[in-house]
Amino acid sequence: MVASVRLVRYTPSSAAAALMRRPPGKAIVSIGGRHPLAVYVVTGGAGFIGSNIVARLVAEGQEVRVLDNFATGHRENLAEFSTKIGVFEGNVSDADLLRSAFAGADYVLHQAALASVQRSVGDPVATDRANVHGTLRVLVAARDAGVKRVVYASSSSVYGDVAELPKHEAMTPAPKSPYAVSKLAGEHYCAVFPAIYGVETVSLRYFNVFGPRQDPKSQYAAVIPIFISGIMAGREIQVFGDGEQSRDFTYVDNVVEANLRAAQAKGAAGKAYNVGTGERHTLNELIELLQQLIGRAARVEYGAERAGDVKHSQADIARARADLGYEPQVSFEEGLRRTVQWFRSTESTTFFLVDR
Ligand SMILES: NC(=O)c1ccc[n+]([C@@H]2O[C@H](COP(=O)([O-])OP(=O)(O)OC[C@H]3O[C@@H](n4cnc5c(N)ncnc54)[C@H](O)[C@@H]3O)[C@@H](O)[C@H]2O)c1
Repeated sequence: MVASVRLVRYTPSSAAAALMRRPPGKAIVSIGGRHPLAVYVVTGGAGFIGSNIVARLVAEGQEVRVLDNFATGHRENLAEFSTKIGVFEGNVSDADLLRSAFAGADYVLHQAALASVQRSVGDPVATDRANVHGTLRVLVAARDAGVKRVVYASSSSVYGDVAELPKHEAMTPAPKSPYAVSKLAGEHYCAVFPAIYGVETVSLRYFNVFGPRQDPKSQYAAVIPIFISGIMAGREIQVFGDGEQSRDFTYVDNVVEANLRAAQAKGAAGKAYNVGTGERHTLNELIELLQQLIGRAARVEYGAERAGDVKHSQADIARARADLGYEPQVSFEEGLRRTVQWFRSTESTTFFLVDR
């Protein structure tokens, strides 16, 4: 059975009270250079990446609030923290909800978005509303609440299909899909808010993130959860193209670490950073590794390439290393091992039984 999530409606006064509950002795202790017991709002916290951020913050003893409309995220992603976090259910475009959620907050880690190239090709207006208008609303609310910094989840898709690899932040973005346009528009808003409104922002361009809690069932699911669940179940998996397209597949813990560093790093405000591993692997390599880890042969069907997909992607992470002190801690292989293990441990319980 799936545990239900406690919904906590915070009001500005309860947020202020929460701040005052900080044990005075603890307030001066620092974890990895970060101030403990700060108040973090994670938009999209019920999603894949957001819930992994929430897990880390809760483990560190931070105060965590999630704002999510559960469009693509799931309550079961938050079930294990349900007594430890506040959940604000609703849209990132809802100014009143944002005001309540951001009252007294130190940092906003803005992950909420419709996070799919294919979905954006089918419904570009919905993607724009959630990703562009939603981000603008988040920034305005952060300004009004006096939030110290907003970290924005951008995407490697802003680079488009440029031939030069690895992709670095000085390149001119060339988005190829409505989704990529929306992520770039959000970055542009983030870039102007520090100078005009004094709101500190940092944009992180994630490169193909994977790991526990990534949804294999959505129509727009990413390739790694689809392949793992497909191979485990003996289903045929589909590759669009010849399988030689490559990606900088990044384990989610690396992305979580980048977010926490970006919230604090001096001199990072107003900038964009690649968050990847600096390597790339083809889909054929991925399938080979998954077969070994799962111990089962994959049934692969190769088909036509998809509109909006880029051929190769690989991050240059020099800027994130220099400014954020970011270093990917979990390799592609180790990340896949952990992800397969997670799928095994959840296969017979919650995730595969939940109807959506
Ligand atoms: N997963 C990746 O490989 C990847 C790569 C690049 C960028 N990103 C970005 O990272 C972020 C998180 O992606 P994810 O993979 O965890 O996706 P996800 O779909 O699992 O999470 C997104 C979350 O945002 C919520 N959400 C969507 N629209 C909302 C709205 N209007 N109001 C409130 N909540 C809303 C969803 O319910 C969900 O919980 C997104 O901004 C995405 O664009 C992800």
